Amino acid sequence: MKSPLELRVMQEFIETCTISWQKGWNERNGGNMSYRMKDEEVDAVKQFFSFDKPFVKIGLKVQNLAGEFFIVTGSGKCYKNVAKYPEDNICIAQIDETGESYRIVWGLVNGGKPTSEFSTHLLNHSVKKEATDGKFRLIMHAHPVNTVALTFILPLDSKVFSRELWEMMPECAFVFPEGLGVLPWMLCGGTEIAYATGELIRRFNTVIWAHHGVFTSGPDFDEAFGIMETVEKAAEMLVKVISCGGKRQTMKKEQILALSENYDVNIDKTLLE
Ligand code: 13P
Ligand code: ZN
Repeated sequence: MKSPLELRVMQEFIETCTISWQKGWNERNGGNMSYRMKDEEVDAVKQFFSFDKPFVKIGLKVQNLAGEFFIVTGSGKCYKNVAKYPEDNICIAQIDETGESYRIVWGLVNGGKPTSEFSTHLLNHSVKKEATDGKFRLIMHAHPVNTVALTFILPLDSKVFSRELWEMMPECAFVFPEGLGVLPWMLCGGTEIAYATGELIRRFNTVIWAHHGVFTSGPDFDEAFGIMETVEKAAEMLVKVISCGGKRQTMKKEQILALSENYDVNIDKTLLE
């Protein structure tokens, strides 16, 4: 291994940044992404880490992430530049033994710090690590146009967003059967929104921030990116339907529930009550 850039997971991280930017979800520096590295990935590239940077307070405690390493986008860094100059735009950060601080061990070679939403990312990682027995490793945040547009139109309620998007196409019930969490407008970049998001992400794999963006989580890039794609595609359909004067017919509750049986997915029925 010549550098962390040769790690397959690093290549996937970089490619995902590029595709997200091309999709228009991550304008300029908008949105951010973090991946909790596997031990074998850390071991393969640890020789390239430097441990001389100071620890910085996270602003909250994530005890179950103590000692873990994260690949994370830099705050204010443009997504379109990640593939060209990865060492300048992303970094690997290590959490200290108390779970209260982090330090940069690789990357951001021309200065900078991890995303301003790092506290939300880390709390989400902490919750998902516990809830999935360590399976979930990815947190993505983006600003997809249609999903955000809907937060100006629909009531900011999980039941409403989940049902409205489930109705758009069967794929939605397969990809996010647990539904969608929705938060009202809150100030971003701090711990208050981190705690509020962390609470919702325990139940939902996706949390929509009103008038701002979306957080998705998953075990890998395909899953976390796949939810973002599916939610945003359904949101685009709904925006078009609303723009054409609204629904004249749609899927019934029983038809949505029937998908559950046929495809062995566990749709949260309480969201259809
Ligand atoms: P960062 O550039 O700090 O990641 O912020 C972008 C963003 O989307 C804030 O919510
Ligand atoms: Zn954002």
